Amino acid sequence: MAGFEPFIFAFLGVLYLILLLLIHAQGQSGFISIDCGLPADSPYKEELTGIDYISDANFIDTGISSRIASEFKGDYRRREWNLRSFPEGVRNCYTIKNITRGTRYLIRGTFLHGNYDGESNLPEFDLYLGTDKWDTVKVEDASYRIIKELIHVPSRNYIHVCLVRTSDLGTPFISSIQFRPLNKNSYETEYGSLALYLRADAGSNTYYSYGQKYPYDVHDRRWTPYNSSEWTDYIWSPSTDLKDLSTELTIDNSKSDYKPASVAMNTAITPVNESAPMGFIDWEPDNKNTQIYIYMHFAEVVKLEPNQFRSFNITLNGKHWYGPVVPNYLSTTTVYSTGPETGGTYNFSMVKAEGSTLPPILNAVEIYYVKDFLQSETDQEDVDAIIKIKSTYGIKRDWQGDPCAPKQYSWEGLDCSYDADNYAHRITSLSIEIPADISNLLMLQFLDLSNNSLTGSVPDFLSKLINLKVLNLERNKLTGSIPRELIERRDNHSLSLSFVVNSMPYFASVGENPDLCGSRSCKKNKNNIVIPIASVAGGLLVFTFIAVAIFWGIRRGSRTKQDAESNKQNATLESLQRQFTYSEILRITNNFERILGKGGFGTVYHGYIDDTQVAVKMLSHSSVQGYQQFQTEVRLLMRVHHRNLTTLVGYCYEGTNLGLVYEYMANGDLDAHLSDGNTQTLTWKDRLRIATDAAQGLEYLHCGCKPPIVHRDVKTTNILLNENLQAKLADFGYSKIFPTDGGTYVSTVVAGTPGYLDPEYYITNWLTEKSDVYSFGVVLLKIITNRPAIERSQERTHVSEFVRSMLAKGDIKNMVDPRLHGNFNINSVWKAVEIAIGCVSPTAAKRPTMSQVVVDLKECMATELARVNDQGGSRESIKMINLDLGTELIPLAR
Ligand SMILES: *[C@@H]1O[C@H](CO)[C@@H](O)[C@H](O)[C@H]1NC(C)=O
Ligand SMILES: *[C@@H]1O[C@H](CO)[C@@H](O)[C@H](O)[C@H]1NC(C)=O
Ligand SMILES: *[C@@H]1O[C@H](CO)[C@@H](O)[C@H](O)[C@H]1NC(C)=O
Ligand SMILES: *[C@@H]1O[C@H](CO)[C@@H](O)[C@H](O)[C@H]1NC(C)=O
Ligand SMILES: *[C@@H]1O[C@H](CO)[C@@H](O)[C@H](O)[C@H]1NC(C)=O
Ligand SMILES: *[C@@H]1O[C@H](CO)[C@@H](O)[C@H](O)[C@H]1NC(C)=O
Ligand SMILES: *[C@@H]1O[C@H](CO)[C@@H](O)[C@H](O)[C@H]1NC(C)=O
Repeated sequence: MAGFEPFIFAFLGVLYLILLLLIHAQGQSGFISIDCGLPADSPYKEELTGIDYISDANFIDTGISSRIASEFKGDYRRREWNLRSFPEGVRNCYTIKNITRGTRYLIRGTFLHGNYDGESNLPEFDLYLGTDKWDTVKVEDASYRIIKELIHVPSRNYIHVCLVRTSDLGTPFISSIQFRPLNKNSYETEYGSLALYLRADAGSNTYYSYGQKYPYDVHDRRWTPYNSSEWTDYIWSPSTDLKDLSTELTIDNSKSDYKPASVAMNTAITPVNESAPMGFIDWEPDNKNTQIYIYMHFAEVVKLEPNQFRSFNITLNGKHWYGPVVPNYLSTTTVYSTGPETGGTYNFSMVKAEGSTLPPILNAVEIYYVKDFLQSETDQEDVDAIIKIKSTYGIKRDWQGDPCAPKQYSWEGLDCSYDADNYAHRITSLSIEIPADISNLLMLQFLDLSNNSLTGSVPDFLSKLINLKVLNLERNKLTGSIPRELIERRDNHSLSLSFVVNSMPYFASVGENPDLCGSRSCKKNKNNIVIPIASVAGGLLVFTFIAVAIFWGIRRGSRTKQDAESNKQNATLESLQRQFTYSEILRITNNFERILGKGGFGTVYHGYIDDTQVAVKMLSHSSVQGYQQFQTEVRLLMRVHHRNLTTLVGYCYEGTNLGLVYEYMANGDLDAHLSDGNTQTLTWKDRLRIATDAAQGLEYLHCGCKPPIVHRDVKTTNILLNENLQAKLADFGYSKIFPTDGGTYVSTVVAGTPGYLDPEYYITNWLTEKSDVYSFGVVLLKIITNRPAIERSQERTHVSEFVRSMLAKGDIKNMVDPRLHGNFNINSVWKAVEIAIGCVSPTAAKRPTMSQVVVDLKECMATELARVNDQGGSRESIKMINLDLGTELIPLAR
């Protein structure tokens, strides 16, 4: 038995220790006391209050720690000596963890400038609690401390305290943040939170109580002295002379849920004129809609004589509000608003009631105004997830405060939408930086690393993600090459890869992924690949890029239903009449004597068949794509014939020697003609005709062919001009014939040229004729402006952006190719610009059809022809047209 005793003693000892800890903890239980700017890991116990203060280092990632100038230290406690300022960023947020949702807290922020910057730059900035504005902090005196207090019930187990820079009114800073839990049954409101207007210790007889808080006040409330010439803190007593209306004894506050400090309760005020009412609050807030809550605390501090009796009523704006009140000796009674007081004028008074021998008294009073916190926050689970992502991947972005709200401060890289059913914002899209830890996410299928200013080479570890189906590396600053394995996977269609990378030799390439975009469901999957539509439309296609097209459709075709067609095509190819041998080609081109140009996958030579000039395109031997283009082009040009499409004279198909023989276009391509190096400037009329020709060629492909054909590579270098400047569309290597099953779209590998490539097609891989319309729009813009599709400047402005910006300014003069010297009908140009802008609409559905474009261009042409006929283009008329420019702007800037 004796063996148990040591055990029991040990057990009791532990119990005792736990008890001690509990008692100790209870005092400050739930207090969160943050000394902003205090060095990390240097907690301290505040003198006098014994409150434990900790550094803010664990609550915020941004800002700079500073100290106030030493001359200000003497007047304030240690927690005000440090501060954190935020010279960077607009919104900087503390995330206060360790709070308990549903608990009512007194939240306090203190701000003492103390000339910490040595420059006395006194700022004004906004303070936010969560997603709502709490107050404005306006610092007018470096030595004066500003305190903001709020009684608030957080709905989450954390809350953000944010400092928001307001335009250029200086650098926000904060000295301390304090959270004090309050009694559950106190300070209840119908809605909203309570911002402090006044908390007064009436009749306080020394300034000592100023700042008299914890441990005197269990909730660490600060009671300020309150006095007026109409009140006194002395009473007249018949037995003595003047009697101090105060006591040294402790006032019992167990009957009040509000538990005001005894030190605040043991003094009181009473009117100087004992029979007059005692007005003690007269407040007319600036905003008439301000609603208030008032809390009055009463206790009799002097033992009354048997013949004495104190009873009074409380009036608000002269009307009975509450009463009669009979204060208890040394025990607190609290009289308070049970709902918000409204009316805009708050004049509280106390009136001696019938039978009362003594005037009214007041010991302490608190007034708050209602502050609505209406903004919804982001869904809790979304927040948890994104916070985890942020910490797991060590994301160094300026991600602070609520991710989605308020909208103007939402996190970079996130898109959110509001879920009205749950009153919460949801994160709908995310793009993050490249973290090495990603390689651990072995099951990852979609990875979007676009738009991150990532530098260095594309890490090899990405190829370890064997389940990856979509990888987007667009718009970074990556250099070097793509890991070979990734390219191989793209080429065998197990990966859709996009890398719009400025320093790389190639620009973009998107492999088709049958699982992702093989069917009509393509649109639904779109969310998985985050490609910003707006920036695609504008500045995405900004770098030099060679689109590497993989003719998946054709290859796959040989295994499926398209078998028959494919065979038929081969058969037709074989039986084509004008088939040339390689030696014939050598003869035609005189051993490839004269080069006309170099194209995507081969070289074009000049030649003669008898006396007729021809152009011979020889495909480079190594180019697989070239072979496929060759097939496509032969197959297509055999079917289609139109005056605005180049004519195929014949072809050569001998071993690895593949060649195409075309009619000769004496004036080369449109691009060369527009280029500054060309001495012969195309007139506006010429340009319109060329545009109309090209448009007709396209219209024929879209409407005249059954099934329709999409060219997919409309650009100025693919528009050729014959000796009469008649334009013909060339280069059908990328063209796509629609399936004959009546579908109006096909899903394909994206092909095309940067600057001309339809952004919507680029995103969806969903091809329609409207993609050509987009490219044609770019061609037309080039014809009008003679600017490159993509500016070679740093900004890499797209010609459509340039034109839109000029349109916004109404500045057509600087939009049109200066080499035209104003020699055009302005309405004709406006109309052409209008057509072009319609064509380059980011939304395919909003673009006109080519038929419409042809009609409109003809109208432009008619207007211009009228001018040419009328005025003959004399110098006089040029002047007049130039003068006209200004006045034309008004009706056309619609
Ligand atoms: C918050 O809680 C954690 C774990 O309970 C504790 O380690 C940390 O010190 C607490 N922080 C504050 C400010 O109370
Ligand atoms: C309150 O004000 C009155 C009149 O101004 C003055 O006589 C009295 O001393 C003041 N009381 C305190 C505690 O300051
Ligand atoms: C005191 O108040 C009463 C009632 O308002 C008034 O009649 C009286 O004149 C006042 N006395 C002085 C001295 O002001
Ligand atoms: C406030 O109320 C008191 C008593 O009802 C009255 O004497 C005083 O004139 C009022 N003040 C204002 C500004 O209305
Ligand atoms: C005080 O309030 C009581 C209760 O409403 C009322 O009966 C009484 O007349 C009031 N006395 C004065 C002086 O207003
Ligand atoms: C595609 O290529 C990669 C790398 O060469 C290879 O690991 C993978 O098995 C290939 N997938 C298919 C479907 O051929
Ligand atoms: C990409 O980054 C640029 C520059 O930071 C920004 O302007 C653009 O809005 C970003 N786009 C997306 C979709 O995040």
